Amino acid sequence: MSGDSMPGDSKVIVTNQSGLHEKLDEVVNKHLSNQFQKPFQQHTKQAFTEIDAIVQQFEGEIILDACCGVGQSTRILAQQNPDALVIGVDKSAHRLNRNVEQIKLEDDVVTAENYHLIRADLNDFYRLVLAAKWPVTRHYVLYPNPWPKSKHLQRRWHGSGVFPQMIKIGQQIILRSNWLIYLQEFLQAAEIAGLTGEIESFVSAEPLTPFEAKYQASGQQCWQLVLITN
Ligand SMILES: C[S@@+](CC[C@H](N)C(=O)[O-])C[C@H]1O[C@@H](n2cnc3c(N)ncnc32)[C@H](O)[C@@H]1O
Repeated sequence: MSGDSMPGDSKVIVTNQSGLHEKLDEVVNKHLSNQFQKPFQQHTKQAFTEIDAIVQQFEGEIILDACCGVGQSTRILAQQNPDALVIGVDKSAHRLNRNVEQIKLEDDVVTAENYHLIRADLNDFYRLVLAAKWPVTRHYVLYPNPWPKSKHLQRRWHGSGVFPQMIKIGQQIILRSNWLIYLQEFLQAAEIAGLTGEIESFVSAEPLTPFEAKYQASGQQCWQLVLITN
C-alpha cells in the first residue's frame, strides 16, 4: 500500500475478516497485563532526546501527529494551531524527506514554523513520550497501515505491545481510516482499557493527508474515531 500513487486510483481494503477479530480481547488483555519490554533502538532514543529538549522548553500545548508520512497534516495542524507545537513522527526517512523537498518547492505557501518532523519508530517513541510526560492535547494517528489480513492483528496499533502506553498519550486521540473495522477494533480495545470514544463517517473539504485525498478522490468513505482519555 502506498501514498505515492495518483489520486482516484485507490483500491478498497481486501480482508479475510468479516467483523472484529475474534482474538482481539485476548490480545489486548495480554498486552494490558504485561509490560512491553522491547529494547529501544538507538536512533529513536537519539531523535527523542533532541526533540524532548525543545518540548521541555515550550510552554504551550503539544500536538502529536503519529505516522505523519510526508508531514502534510503536521504542517496543516501547525498552521491551524499557531500557539501549539506540532510534532510529526514517522519511521520512514523516504517519506519525511519528500516533505522537506516539498517545503522548499512551496516556500511561498508554507508559513508555519511551529512544527518538527522526527524520524523515529513509534514502538519506542511512544514509551519515551509517556515517560517524559509531554503535555499532549491532541494525538493524531491518520490512516495507519491497516494490516487487513486476520493473521496480522498484532501489527495493528491496537494489537501491538505498545498499545497500553500509546493510549495514555493525549487528552484526545483522533484516528482516521478508510477501514471501519480498524477503528471499531481500536475503540473496543480502548474501551477494555477504560476509555470512551465515538466513530463517525466524514468528508473533508480540505484533506489533511495524501491518503485522505486519495481515498476521497476514489469515492471511498473515510471514518474518524475520537477517544477521550481523561
Ligand atoms: C498509510 S501511511 C499514512 C501516512 C499519512 N498519515 C497519510 O495519511 O498520508 C502510514 C505511515 O505510518 C508509518 N509507520 C508505520 N509504522 C510506524 C512506526 N512503528 N513508527 C513510525 N511510523 C510508522 C509509515 O512509515 C507510513 O508513513
